[in-house]
Amino acid sequence: MANALVTGGAGYIGSHTCLELLQAGHSVTVLDNLCNSSQESLKRVQSLAGRALDLVQGDIRDFDLLRRLLDSRGSKQPAFDAVVHFAGLKAVGESVAQPLAYFDNNVLGTVCLLRAMAEAAVKILVFSSSATVYGDPASVPISEEFPRSATNPYGASKLMIEDMLEDLYRSDPTWRIGRLRYFNPVGAHASGLIGEDPQGAPNNLMPYVSQVAIGQRECLQVFGGDYPTPDGTGVRDYIHVVDLAKGHLAALRSLSQAEAGTGQLLTVNLGTGVGVSVLQLVKAFEQACGRVIPYRVVARRPGDVAACYANPHLAKTLLGWQAQRSLADMCADAWRWQVQNPQGYRLVSTPAPSTGATQ
Ligand code: NAD
Ligand code: WQD
Repeated sequence: MANALVTGGAGYIGSHTCLELLQAGHSVTVLDNLCNSSQESLKRVQSLAGRALDLVQGDIRDFDLLRRLLDSRGSKQPAFDAVVHFAGLKAVGESVAQPLAYFDNNVLGTVCLLRAMAEAAVKILVFSSSATVYGDPASVPISEEFPRSATNPYGASKLMIEDMLEDLYRSDPTWRIGRLRYFNPVGAHASGLIGEDPQGAPNNLMPYVSQVAIGQRECLQVFGGDYPTPDGTGVRDYIHVVDLAKGHLAALRSLSQAEAGTGQLLTVNLGTGVGVSVLQLVKAFEQACGRVIPYRVVARRPGDVAACYANPHLAKTLLGWQAQRSLADMCADAWRWQVQNPQGYRLVSTPAPSTGATQ
């Protein structure tokens, strides 16, 4: 059983991963400044798991806080066995408008976290990278050794962190680092209790479709109908968020099992390997919700690529992990979450959690 520190654990992918960690018997402490999430997600995670976690409300750029958290208080055992690092800003368009905020939060925040981990000798880290590091790929499916490039400051921040982690590992090969490159996470926990809760108009396709289906938005704009893809619309690798969460447990297991004193730098795609077009996703969602999703095809969105999907084999070989859930599952679960929580986590009045050290 591990004792995990989860940065950004109140967010979309973090909350689903916390649930999987708790259900697998691990102890969980979340560090989150709640800049893009709420405590409600963690209250629900605890009620689903039937177990408590600790929430520390704070920022990964607060070095003193990290130091205190990671301090083993004189014991020979470190305070945590591993860190799962989700905390970061993720809106591509916002990163173009505010690049310094992205480098400050994502890059400097990670430097701060790594310094505190090194000081406390906590050297197992799982990091949320992204398929965005492949830029505009020359071909699909995309394997891990494909060249990397950034097309926006968000992507650049992920590239910088990936490079930093590699340099850190070279300087001290006892680190055990997983760089997990997610493709397009969608869906929600099958209970309908936790899911994606975008603030304002969603940037991403699935939550937008879902809000159109429930009548909160009139019509989906399909960005581009003239891509060199089977139906002319963009093709992506949508992965169920629960499968993705389980990928983190597989990575933690693999990193923890390395022989004592040996390190590891693991870089893997977490995707399904299946390319799905915008129109295919719309059709699948219509079947899941039993409603018609009005859409119109408009101009391409600047910066979008035609097709992006993973070669997922390395994760299967190295971690014994592969995605299990279908596109129909992703749509059904996203729809259940939408129907049960039309305003996301807002407008709920669940009592404050009684567990954990909330600072
Ligand atoms: P999210 O915004 O739901 O979760 C991120 C969490 O980090 C939020 O709870 C936020 O409050 C917290 N946070 C942000 N900055 C922080 C800071 N400085 N200190 C403490 N907490 C902070 O996003 P998500 O979709 O769950 O993404 C998690 C990670 O996965 C991010 O690093 C993101 O870049 C990466 N990722 C996401 C996707 C995606 O499409 N969702 C795809 C690839 C990679
Ligand atoms: C998917 C497809 C759009 C919205 C983004 C980030 C990436 C990663 C995942 C973090 C594309 C089309 C979308 C809409 C549409 N995040 N679309 N109408 O762009 O593949 O990836 O999220 O790392 O870095 O760039 O995901 O969901 O925005 O778009 O037609 O209203 O849906 O053009 O083809 P994307 P997405």
